Amino acid sequence: MADTILCGIDVGSSKISTIIAKQSEEEREPRVMGFSSIPSRGVRRGQIVDIHQVTDAVEESVEKAERMAGAKVQSAYIAVGGPHIESLNSHGVVAVSQPDIEISHDDMVRVIDAAKAISISSTREVIEVVPREYIVDGQDGIKSPLGMSGVRLEVNTHIITASLTNLKNLERCLADLGIETRAYVFSGLSSALAVLSDTEKELGVVVVDIGGGKTDVCVYVEGALSYSSSIPIGARHITNDIAVGLRISLESAEKIKLYLTDEKVKQKMKEEKQDDIDVTHLGIIEGLKSFSYKTVIDGIIRPRSEEIFDKVLEEIDKSGFINQIPSGLVISGGGAMTTGLIDAAKRIIGMPARIGKPQFISGLIDEVMYPQYASVVGLLLYARDEGVVDQKLHFKDFDKIFRNLSLKGSFKKTFDLFKSFIP
Ligand SMILES: Nc1ncnc2c1ncn2[C@@H]1O[C@H](COP(=O)(O)OP(=O)(O)OP(=O)(O)O)[C@@H](O)[C@H]1O
Ligand SMILES: [Mg+2]
Repeated sequence: MADTILCGIDVGSSKISTIIAKQSEEEREPRVMGFSSIPSRGVRRGQIVDIHQVTDAVEESVEKAERMAGAKVQSAYIAVGGPHIESLNSHGVVAVSQPDIEISHDDMVRVIDAAKAISISSTREVIEVVPREYIVDGQDGIKSPLGMSGVRLEVNTHIITASLTNLKNLERCLADLGIETRAYVFSGLSSALAVLSDTEKELGVVVVDIGGGKTDVCVYVEGALSYSSSIPIGARHITNDIAVGLRISLESAEKIKLYLTDEKVKQKMKEEKQDDIDVTHLGIIEGLKSFSYKTVIDGIIRPRSEEIFDKVLEEIDKSGFINQIPSGLVISGGGAMTTGLIDAAKRIIGMPARIGKPQFISGLIDEVMYPQYASVVGLLLYARDEGVVDQKLHFKDFDKIFRNLSLKGSFKKTFDLFKSFIP
């Protein structure tokens, strides 16, 4: 396998990030070569509200990352999130085609197709089908039935759907820029790929990605994604509350919110006896010089953080897996850094909680290792893993022909290559 260029683009409500990495055969970790993150335009709660603004912003972000990487992006994996995301669990069953030999890839593809045969509205599209477990002749909990013998093959899957309009709008933005969309990945899932350890996934864990305009929730049980949803409330609501509470603009409130997350400031306020915090040096345009620290932390930020976790708890309840997540919560997204947020999570959910920073990549990563970039980093890991699956699925039967070809990636590429052999 030759080196492959992977690209992920996260079109968030607060920022648009692009990451470009090289995937080589020798190293498992994608090596980051280019990265950019710019303020978002034309996106609200994960949904496009102005396609021209989004196209311009994506172009700017991609160009910056391309310049840094010295490589051109031809195709990309795109993170999608927001309340238009829905999920369901579905079951598929097929008869094994050659029960006297072994379960083949073809059987696995057929059983997943059977599980995919669900009726969804014409305005929605399936973006993810995760096999949670296979069942062979009644024996459950099987991760991969390939090569096993059996007569009846079943699968339990987790299916994520998204609004077709939103996907089409995104595809149009990217097509205008000459970028092919390889796949849409739920932003909660891509964050989970970047922040979770295998042990956490095995034990059971919830990833909560708190962005500017929405909060994604992903529940992992026994190693597999088992519930996904997105709540239309994010860290920007905290900024809003500060703006209303202190009677200042959103920009000034954002400045204050970020200032309050500074470890030195937190330490100083802990040590000081007085409650007034001096912010003269922030140059708040409304002329605000100081305010009560306790009022903002306990009276404004805390109730909104708790409200977010009340909603997260509702989602965990809905998933039906509340007793199967001993690893607790891993919180990513820019909102994860909000002062007191982790304590609010522990209080409301009654489980351990930690901040999830992206991992599992190498190269130019200094700028990237923050919770708000978990979803864009996860896209690289998704792309890498999809490449591996594709090769296993499509190369097996044509092993001899393709053994020395450095073809990587999608079914379409495999198919195109195939076509080139046909006169
Ligand atoms: N250091 C920090 N302290 C507190 N909040 C922060 C910090 N850095 C970023 N944020 C907040 O995180 C939010 C943006 O998060 P993020 O970058 O994950 O959003 P996004 O991915 O663009 O949006 P979404 O996922 O909702 O579409 C903003 O509300 C911002 O105020
Ligand atoms: Mg986000």
